[in-house]
Amino acid sequence: MVAAEEAAVIAEQVVAALREECATPASRLDEVAAAMADEMAAGLAEEGGSKIKMIVSYVDNLPNGSEEGLFYALDLGGTNFRVLRVQLAGKERRVVKRETREVSIPPHLMSGNSSELFGFIASALAKFVEDEGHSAVFSDKQRELGFTFSFPVRQTSITSGTLIKWTKAFSIDDAVGEDVVAELQTAMEKQGLDMRVSALINDTVGTLAAGSYYDEDVVVGVILGTGSNAAYVEKANAIPKLEGELPKSGNMVINTEWGNFSSSCLPITEYDQALDKESLNPGEQIFEKLISGMYLGEIVRRVLLKISSRCSIFGNVDLIKLNTHFILRTPDISAMHHDQTPDLRIVAEKLADNLKITGTSLETRKMVVEICDIVTRRSARLAAAGIVGILRKIGRGTPGHNRKSVVAIDGGLYEHYTEFRQCLESTLTELLGEDASKSVAVRLANDGSGLGAALIAAAHSQYLR
Ligand code: BGC
Repeated sequence: MVAAEEAAVIAEQVVAALREECATPASRLDEVAAAMADEMAAGLAEEGGSKIKMIVSYVDNLPNGSEEGLFYALDLGGTNFRVLRVQLAGKERRVVKRETREVSIPPHLMSGNSSELFGFIASALAKFVEDEGHSAVFSDKQRELGFTFSFPVRQTSITSGTLIKWTKAFSIDDAVGEDVVAELQTAMEKQGLDMRVSALINDTVGTLAAGSYYDEDVVVGVILGTGSNAAYVEKANAIPKLEGELPKSGNMVINTEWGNFSSSCLPITEYDQALDKESLNPGEQIFEKLISGMYLGEIVRRVLLKISSRCSIFGNVDLIKLNTHFILRTPDISAMHHDQTPDLRIVAEKLADNLKITGTSLETRKMVVEICDIVTRRSARLAAAGIVGILRKIGRGTPGHNRKSVVAIDGGLYEHYTEFRQCLESTLTELLGEDASKSVAVRLANDGSGLGAALIAAAHSQYLR
């Protein structure tokens, strides 16, 4: 065999093993959904009952449209944070004005100290407020803010909660165990900003709230972006760990924190294990590391690195690039995956720009597309299984059940990665069955987390009492 053929055979062996290890037949996904539902129940039974924290959000009523007034929101959870000002005008007119400003967080602040991060956020918020000039609305009223903080927080009320741990690319030790609302409030005071945090929520809760504001059949909110998580409406009497009087509505929104789900039925490869071991949070967020946007490109990079260490299919590779963690991002693998050019020109460009791999054959580029496909399909199918787990837990999407259930999804992975989105949706139908899936719909809730925070802040305004 000539060298090139030999290299192709070796590369194919690596891809074949990946294909096999990432396989997610319906039978396995059913197990994942069942395990998810079991873990959910265990997490609701008692604090620490499961790796899935099943956090009580203290949101017992979702917005119903009657909310009125001018509210602010602060949305922190990824590499950018957003500040919003939203004018709500009741049932008929709804959101009459929405202004947003997005600020990127300097990377050093994601691993620095807490007061620096909150100081930076509060100063951007103060600037946003200052730029609106004098507002007669607030001459005798305090401004109110919904704070979307997209990390696991042990909530103690709708306006307080302590950070359990960081996820995604954040790691600021001195914030763990602290009340994030108190930290923000202190930082705002230092900026001379008179604003009250009237709700602390997770982005999934915001997505659920914003989704149900426009469609009352929305019962689950999911984030598929840098990180991943889901929230849903649970019956209060199905939450044994809920202390005190049950809410009048009989319901409670639960932030599952499903990113930390892990189970022996998950298809985990050597690449996932190595990624986890070398991550900021080893042993944590295993489900998230298989499905969310922060990691998909990184998994693909690890597979390409393995292939290049075993054979010369990529030619003379500059290993510095291929060895750099997170150099291949999910938008890159999405672009390669969707490449429709006959000679896979976009794949060639991405390989050259990101990894300095040039001069590949068309066959090799096809192989790269297949690797993106394997990794992304596994992710989308597992995410679908997670959603089915939640629907089963609340008795929705079952045969003969006609009540409509809508899942609101936000996040760049779902919004921008078409192959991912289509695969997730078709997998939902596959798992629920044609008949039951007619009662389930999935909707993009674009920018739901910020709007949801403003809506929940409105519902908890100090001026309503
Ligand atoms: C966090 C969740 C969040 C999700 C999506 C995860 O890493 O733990 O709280 O909802 O990312 O932003």
